[in-house]
Amino acid sequence: MRLFLTGASGLVGSNILPVALRRGHEVIAVRGSWQGEIPGATQVIQVDLSDPHAVQSSILEAFPDAIINAAGVTEPFLCDRDPKGSASINVDLPKILARIAHHLSARLVHLSSEQIFDGNSAPYERDHTPSPSNLYGHQKAESEQRVHSGAPEHAVTLRLPLLNGNSPGGTRSLHERLFGLWASGQPARLFRDEIRQPCGADNAAEVVIEMCERPDLTGIFNWAGSEALSRLEMGRRILDRFGLPDDLVIGLAQREIPGGKDRPPDLSLDLAGLAGKLKTPLQDFATQLENLIVPRPFREWYHKQE
Ligand SMILES: NC(=O)c1ccc[n+]([C@@H]2O[C@H](COP(=O)([O-])OP(=O)(O)OC[C@H]3O[C@@H](n4cnc5c(N)ncnc54)[C@H](OP(=O)(O)O)[C@@H]3O)[C@@H](O)[C@H]2O)c1
Repeated sequence: MRLFLTGASGLVGSNILPVALRRGHEVIAVRGSWQGEIPGATQVIQVDLSDPHAVQSSILEAFPDAIINAAGVTEPFLCDRDPKGSASINVDLPKILARIAHHLSARLVHLSSEQIFDGNSAPYERDHTPSPSNLYGHQKAESEQRVHSGAPEHAVTLRLPLLNGNSPGGTRSLHERLFGLWASGQPARLFRDEIRQPCGADNAAEVVIEMCERPDLTGIFNWAGSEALSRLEMGRRILDRFGLPDDLVIGLAQREIPGGKDRPPDLSLDLAGLAGKLKTPLQDFATQLENLIVPRPFREWYHKQE
């Protein structure tokens, strides 16, 4: 298949590319401001995805069999800082992609987030009514609606949890953010009462490509890892994985910080919708840890710890 991949320079997109190539697909990889390499793509193009005309003309030129939307403004604070700009990527772009997918009869695989829920009714089934507690979650919930009203017969949305993995810049995933804190001289203060069900970006990438290949799957599906864990537990296991000292992680409860009680306490996802339908297995946390590397920007700091 010929795949048009937005967000190819992001955490998930960069993991999708090698899986797609391994399974024999061609990939037109879209980057935004990323200046580094995107190895293996059939073609790399730079497109400002907030420009609907640029989006439309680049897709029509590529004429793909499937569009994968892994682009996003994925930091909640960035959405709060620029509601309009973030909505152009998180809401308007998926809407345009759905219209084009419908027009081309192309498959559309869109990515959404556990953040569309408030964390008070976990585990969340795939048809649970969204209840976002921040603007990012609102935008992702709206994107799901736009995608499925625009291309009901061609689109599938994969809702993802907190992700482990290695990103091109080394600053995007769970352990990369922790390394960023540690390298700046701060311990990580992690909640013992905030539960997430992480999976690896590489594992999510396998599911995305499987979904491109499975036009019989339409609608919204949850995907996650096989274990729900507290953030504190995850932080401790990441320390252990890299042989770092225990005092780099401090446990606390959500109520101990201002606004902490507004954070979703438990975003575990019910995976029944996809159970038995995919070849990709669920990943446990130990497997996710095995795949992690020391993030490039923090290698010097890490080697000084040894
Ligand atoms: N990371 C997670 O833990 C997580 C969890 C659940 C769901 N998700 C979902 O998974 C998807 C991918 O997330 P991610 O973590 O991989 O994101 P990410 O690492 O923040 O990457 C975002 C991507 O979007 C591109 N982008 C943003 N604005 C653009 C613009 N105006 N023009 C062109 N490209 C633009 C970026 O390109 P440049 O960098 O080249 O500008 C980058 O490739 C999102 O839908 C997100 O909601 C992620």
